[in-house]
Parts: sequence; C-alpha cells; structure tokens
Amino acid sequence: MKLVLLGPPGSGKGTHAMWMCGEYKIPHISTGAMLREEERRNPHLYEEIRHYIDRGELVPDELIFEILKERLAESDCRDGYILDGFPRTLKQAEMLEALGGVDLAVMIDTMPELIMERVRGRRVCPRCGKGYHISQIPDGKCTDCGAEVTIRSDDKPETIRNRFDVYDRVTHPLVEHYKNEGKLARIDGSGTIEEVAAEIRALLNGGV
Ligand code: AP5
Repeated sequence: MKLVLLGPPGSGKGTHAMWMCGEYKIPHISTGAMLREEERRNPHLYEEIRHYIDRGELVPDELIFEILKERLAESDCRDGYILDGFPRTLKQAEMLEALGGVDLAVMIDTMPELIMERVRGRRVCPRCGKGYHISQIPDGKCTDCGAEVTIRSDDKPETIRNRFDVYDRVTHPLVEHYKNEGKLARIDGSGTIEEVAAEIRALLNGGV
C-alpha cells in the first residue's frame, strides 16, 4: 500500500501516520522530520535548508528528491509507505511517479481556525521526537522520556501564516491532481484524533 497523506500544516498528517505505520506495517516517511533530522546528522547541509524551513518556505524540489530517493530505496519500503509531507508540488508528484508511485492520496480536510489553534499549541520532545498539544502536558515534559518539550522553529505565528499561504498556493493543487487520477480520498479531520483515526481505518480496511 503506497499512501500519501495530504493536508495543510497541522491537519494531523504526522499524528495519524504514527499509528498507521504500526497497524499497516509500512514505514512512515516524513520529509519534514527528515529535514529537521539533518540538523543533527549533517549540520552543514542544515545551514542551507534552515532558512527555508524557518520562513515557512519549501525546500527546493531537487534537494527533497535526493533525500527521498535514498529513503525509498531502502528495503522496508518494498511493500509500501506512508508519505507525510511529500509531494508538496506538482513537480514532486511527477518525481514520485518515477520513484514508486502512489495507490491512494488521503486528504485530511480541516477548518483553518481549528488547525491554527493546534499548531500554536504544538510541542515536540527534542530527544525522542514525540509530539503533543500543550494542554496534554501541563508540566511541559515528554511523557515517554521526561525531556523538556520545545516549540518547533517554524511554529512561530508569522511563519505559520506563511506555511498556510504556501500550502494554499503550491500544495493544495495536488488535491485536484490526485482527484483527476482517481486516487483521492477525503477524510473529515475536524473530529478528535480517535474519530479521525476511525475514519481512516474504515477507508483503508475497506480496501485500497
Ligand atoms: P512538515 O514537518 O511536513 O510540516 P507540515 O506539513 O507543515 O505539517 P505539520 O507537521 O505542521 O502538521 P501535521 O499535518 O503533521 O500535523 P500534526 O499531526 O503534527 O514540514 C516542515 C517544513 O519542512 C516545511 O514548511 C518545508 O519548509 C519543509 N518541507 C517538508 N517537506 C517538504 C517537501 N516535500 N518539499 C519542500 N519542503 C518541504 O498535528 C498538529 C498538532 O495538532 C499536534 O499537536 C497534534 O497533537 C494535534 N492534532 C492532530 N490531530 C488532531 C485532532 N484531530 N484533534 C486535536 N488535536 C490534533
């Protein structure tokens, strides 16, 4: 099963990919997480990409393509994958066809006001990467490893606005693209995490 999760920043792509990869036994591949990981793995490269991320702009297609090409060539991707944050441009969608393609693109539809609140409250564990809403952890500590959680550098209000703008202009046209290919499914993302997960399960267990 080769899945793409589509949706604006904060719509829940990462949240749902996390349980889906365990349940469907295919890897969760987040290009955003891979780029953030470069800060530790390859600080020199990260210096190049940091200014795109911190401004809420997209990293150049060619660079993302190189990173993703290596990842999709790994053996755990043989039976499929869940792509979270890729493709983000029509050019990336073309690139993906060359790398392995897509069976289904799942669009998580959510009201902008709702996701703005979610992203403003998002906190991330710098040690293990687990994500939270601030209301879930009043002591500000990761429930898994105890580290002090932090705010993502691109979750500042001015950057969030630009990320939404980039999504509307550049990424949203992919919804029409996958619809025209007969590969689009829409999920209502405005319920609780459990409600949205149940909708995704019903869709995927009904057969892709
Ligand atoms: P990336 O990391 O992909 O960010 P994004 O797409 O903006 O998505 P987010 O991670 O913000 O949101 P999400 O949909 O995963 O929501 P989440 O589950 O966390 O990309 C970051 C940057 O990297 C980009 O801006 C760009 O610069 C660069 N980049 C990445 N990929 C690229 C590419 N392909 N090409 C070029 N550049 C690229 O949920 C958000 C919060 O809401 C969480 O706190 C969660 O707990 C909560 N939540 C989720 N669902 C619910 C619910 N139903 N009810 C209540 N709370 C919920």
